[in-house]
Amino acid sequence: MAIERTFLMVKPDGVKRQVVGDIIDRFERRGFVMRAAKLMNVPRELAEKHYEEHKEKPFFNELVDFITSGPVFAMVWEGENIIKLARVMMGATKPEEAQPGTIRGDYAVTISENVIHGSDSPSSAEREIKLWFNDELV
Ligand code: PPS
Repeated sequence: MAIERTFLMVKPDGVKRQVVGDIIDRFERRGFVMRAAKLMNVPRELAEKHYEEHKEKPFFNELVDFITSGPVFAMVWEGENIIKLARVMMGATKPEEAQPGTIRGDYAVTISENVIHGSDSPSSAEREIKLWFNDELV
């Protein structure tokens, strides 16, 4: 299995609830390496580009409103099989399916305010890393 990079983002609810440290700790304990990070407000245009595959979904505006509602903590992480493993550590999108012990299973009770985003495939990871960090990568 090759070393991969993925894009992870603590959403505004996670930043507000001060769980950024816990989330970083979980990934470091698993042996993954942080490659870039920034606390930032999200311009609407960036949010719309990030979620463009969901443009036709009924919840698109709610999604963009939420991600632009307060600072997020955007990150790039590296490690073996990290794209899939990060999704497992995050837990299911639907709160009733998120297992205790996962990030969402421990913190999230709604589908929209679900603490963390992670790239869902190698092509999404490549696109999202470029979109959020461009040439700022270490
Ligand atoms: S889908 O329809 O299966 O492609 O959507 P999914 O991958 O489950 O979710 C994509 C992102 O949209 C968020 N989401 C929602 N937000 C608000 N309301 C509703 N009903 C809703 N359903 C899904 C979900 O949290 C995903 O956000 P990210 O940041 O990608 O995890």
